[in-house]
Amino acid sequence: MNIILLGPPGAGKGTQAARLQAQRGMIQLSTGDMLREARASGSPIGDKVKAIMDAGELVSDEIVTALIGERLDSAQAKGAIFDGYPRTQAQAEALDLLLSERGRKLDHVIELVVDEDALVDRITGRFSCAKCGTGYHDRFKPTNVAGVCDVCGSTEFVRRPDDNEQTVRRRMAEYRAKTAPILPYYESRGLVRRVDGMESVDEVAAQIDAVLDATE
Ligand code: AP5
Repeated sequence: MNIILLGPPGAGKGTQAARLQAQRGMIQLSTGDMLREARASGSPIGDKVKAIMDAGELVSDEIVTALIGERLDSAQAKGAIFDGYPRTQAQAEALDLLLSERGRKLDHVIELVVDEDALVDRITGRFSCAKCGTGYHDRFKPTNVAGVCDVCGSTEFVRRPDDNEQTVRRRMAEYRAKTAPILPYYESRGLVRRVDGMESVDEVAAQIDAVLDATE
């Protein structure tokens, strides 16, 4: 099964994709994570995307589609969760091509419907373990013991450079202008399923599971 998780910054795409990977063995393909890996590596592509990401703008369609294409084959057997891709009409069409070249298709586009005003709080409170990458939130998902990662015990944490209020608002504007307009492309094919992204993490998970279970 191949699914897209679609929603603005902070809607919970990464949270739900990581859960689906852990619980269902599907493969999370996050262009945001791939771009962060590229920038941390100091590669020429990494240097190019750093300024764009820090400004909250979109990286070029060519770069992100190349990154997805490289990883797609690893998600052949278990199915893919596209997290943060596609984000433009050109990316949506490129994904169709990448899938059809491999004899695969999209099963669902799951839209996380959220109230944008609440998302700034979600994003500016987010942090993750510097060692194992487990994600937390100051209020919504704190560590069990203050300052200690629940999973690996590390005491070092990081926050994303683009998780400040000004950049978050720019990222939301990019979502409204370039990403939300691709929904009709999928609606016309009957692929869109809506879940209430303002519910708790567990409730959102239950709604997504209900969609997936109904098609297995
Ligand atoms: P990317 O990393 O994809 O960021 P994003 O889309 O802005 O999404 P986020 O990771 O901020 O949010 P999320 O929806 O995953 O929410 P999360 O689960 O973490 O992209 C970053 C940048 O890379 C872009 O700005 C762009 O420059 C570039 N880029 C990436 N892909 C690209 C592409 N395809 N084309 C061009 N450029 C691209 O949750 C947020 C917080 O809320 C967490 O702390 C979580 O614990 C909490 N939370 C989650 N769910 C709930 C809930 N139900 N209730 C309460 N709290 C919750």
